[in-house]
Amino acid sequence: MAGARPNFMKIKPVLDALERRGAETVLVHTGQHYDAGMSDVFFEELGIRKPDHSLGVGSGTHAIQTGRVMTAFEPLLDELRPDIVVVVGDVNSTLACTLVAAKANPPVPVAHVEAGLRSGDWTMPEEVNRVVTDRLSRWLLAPSADAVDNLHAEGSSPDHIHLVGNVMVDTLLQNLDRAKRRPTLDELGLTPGAYGLVTLHRPATVDDPSILGPLLDALAYLSTEVSLLFPVHPRTRAVLSQRPIPATLRLVDPLGYLDFLALQASARVVLTDSGGIQEETTVLGIPCLTLRDNTERPITIEEGTNRLVGRDPQAIIDAAHEWLAAPPAPRRPALWDGKAAERIADALLS
Ligand code: UD1
Repeated sequence: MAGARPNFMKIKPVLDALERRGAETVLVHTGQHYDAGMSDVFFEELGIRKPDHSLGVGSGTHAIQTGRVMTAFEPLLDELRPDIVVVVGDVNSTLACTLVAAKANPPVPVAHVEAGLRSGDWTMPEEVNRVVTDRLSRWLLAPSADAVDNLHAEGSSPDHIHLVGNVMVDTLLQNLDRAKRRPTLDELGLTPGAYGLVTLHRPATVDDPSILGPLLDALAYLSTEVSLLFPVHPRTRAVLSQRPIPATLRLVDPLGYLDFLALQASARVVLTDSGGIQEETTVLGIPCLTLRDNTERPITIEEGTNRLVGRDPQAIIDAAHEWLAAPPAPRRPALWDGKAAERIADALLS
């Protein structure tokens, strides 16, 4: 099952590894993300086959979106009766499909790829999705040792927990050379190592003008010192269209996987509120400043190139100055080696 942008690069290596072992797979796209730039381009660039079933649920409030996925997935699950439902990440589609599988009669066991991540922030919709999905899953496929610790601390059955590594890294390593060969930087007039890359899309960051305004002020200030490119998520575009943006902060449409990977790999610094980008910059050894008060990926701080800077504009500017002057040394967590999906297939098929 996949539904939203960050799911697509996670499901691809798992599908491949299962198929290499002769398992029959059925790919369901819930349609939580549906724009060509948020969905189709990932299928094309990553070589993911056309979904076997598209639920076409689209956007809505959390209840509407989750409810629509559940309503559409329930009859499909009844028809397919798979041995396992594999869900990835922490989006509403992940939770919805897990609930349906867990409440089917008889229940279908769920495998959760990216189990055990916790921000401790219950105001974050993804945190609710993570905890409930893990509680209901039979296979808890954890990307890092801290995630395993979280699952143990919550009382998950040790038999259900598998430390497998990070599937995002599988896809990144598989595509890095191809991404670097693209003319992305030339086309945008960027010099390797001489620009910063910005992404913001979380409701907690972009929906409240009293938070977003000062953040944009900090970015505007920094953009006079290092050029900043900001590919804008649809949620953020709606908010930004209502306010003036300084010319030095360069806004572009959302990018495909390969272009965005090429841009990350040659950036001097990345400023983001994304989860996955904290992981990708760690693997690439690129300094990342996370503009949030918490992270479900502390491993990228302890064993990577990420730093949590919060949302105070002066703190962001100070941290950016420090990291531009003295970038952190590249490090990579254990099992972020490109073979996570192989371990997942081993765990599921054994
Ligand atoms: C979702 C995930 C988030 C993930 C993010 C990546 C949840 C709770 N959140 O947040 O964890 O990091 O995806 O993008 O599942 N929209 C479009 N076209 C699209 C998709 C969305 O225009 O293809 C617009 C719609 O106006 C929609 C808004 O973006 O209302 C938000 O989309 P939604 O899927 O609800 O949440 P995201 O903010 O993308």
